[in-house]
Amino acid sequence: MKNINLIGPFWKAVSGGLILLSVLSFTPAAFAELTDAQVAEIPAGDQPIKFSHKIHAGDNKIQCQYCHIYARRSWSSGVPPVKVCMGCHNFVATDLAEIQKLTKYWDDKKPIPWVKKHDVPDFVRFPHKKHINAKNEVFPDGVPCQKCHGPIETLDVVEVQDPKFGEMGWCLKCHLTIPGVKERKKNIKDENGKLPFAMHPKGHHRPALTDCLTCHK
Ligand code: HEC
Ligand code: HEC
Ligand code: HEC
Ligand code: HEC
Ligand code: HEC
Repeated sequence: MKNINLIGPFWKAVSGGLILLSVLSFTPAAFAELTDAQVAEIPAGDQPIKFSHKIHAGDNKIQCQYCHIYARRSWSSGVPPVKVCMGCHNFVATDLAEIQKLTKYWDDKKPIPWVKKHDVPDFVRFPHKKHINAKNEVFPDGVPCQKCHGPIETLDVVEVQDPKFGEMGWCLKCHLTIPGVKERKKNIKDENGKLPFAMHPKGHHRPALTDCLTCHK
């Protein structure tokens, strides 16, 4: 259970519950607070299961990468494997109709057919991992998910937040804020006669972030 922010109400309930569990054989299903009637009030969107980022990443403070396990390791961030959901929903809120739908996908060994909202055309190279693991003057700890996707943790239904998301100008606008990018592109050398290493303070070679071939094959 690493990577979890331990201050969310769910985690408080779990740590409290585990103590109770040993003392009173308290059932974990009792952590559930939502009723089917309350879930019915949540906006539906067009997803096969009514999944709320606000409830998970917002109210219960579950970290993005706890579910989006591929974001820092691969090109695509991907939707979470059903197994990740079942790690909690084997015992959390099992009475809810939406959780029973989830459990059916798991029992049938079927992936959940989530509808994809964020997309760039196939001729564009977009590696999530290079962004999540970026280390430079502007983004010393990687580019935060919200910088590109907006405040996902406040949304019941995820839709693209910025109408310019994924346009070439949208990508370039950010790439151009990273020091040394323009100099490298134009072969402008620094006072030591060297090209600035545009993206990495330690200075090993990386392609200019504005070169066509960085984003196009
Ligand atoms: C780390 C634990 C955890 C994981 C992982 C998790 N959930 Fe939840 N989920 C919760 C908690 C806590 C609630 C709120 C339960 C309550 O308050 O009754 C919840 C509520 C829900 C609900 C009802 C509210 C809503 O969002 O509509 C659904 C549906 C749901 N989860 C689906 C999923 C799916 C699908 C996944 C996998 C992508 C998932 N959950 C992964 C903890 C988790
Ligand atoms: C409990 C698991 C869980 C957590 C935590 C979670 N997500 Fe998700 N995320 C999902 C699921 C399931 C979907 C697919 C359904 C949907 O779009 O709501 C999804 C979809 C998305 C999408 C849309 C993908 C597309 O199709 O375009 C984005 C963007 C996203 N998540 C970002 C985030 C960010 C940012 C955070 C942290 C603030 C986060 N997620 C936290 C489970 C999770
Ligand atoms: C630099 C901008 C940027 C950052 C930072 C970023 N994303 Fe994305 N994300 C994108 C783009 C662009 C796409 C569309 C990619 C495609 O179609 O190939 C996307 C697509 C997605 C999708 C849809 C499935 C997929 O992989 O195509 C999910 C889910 C997602 N992002 C989650 C996240 C999460 C979680 C984080 C943080 C850990 C994050 N993203 C950080 C730009 C970003
Ligand atoms: C919010 C800022 C931001 C946005 C928006 C953004 N990027 Fe990036 N991009 C970065 C950062 C930071 C790096 C890592 C640079 C480094 O290595 O320090 C990066 C690196 C890359 C790389 C890897 C270059 C390499 O080989 O090392 C590619 C490819 C890339 N971006 C494509 C895109 C595309 C395509 C889009 C738009 C769909 C996009 N980026 C949007 C900030 C951004
Ligand atoms: C930072 C990433 C990035 C860089 C650098 C970049 N592009 Fe793009 N380009 C994109 C994205 C993303 C799209 C898709 C935009 C869309 O669909 O709206 C795109 C779309 C295009 C298209 C439109 C293709 C079509 O069929 O609609 C052309 C042509 C193009 N780029 C050429 C170039 C050229 C030439 C360069 C170098 C001068 C360049 N690009 C540099 C990200 C980039």
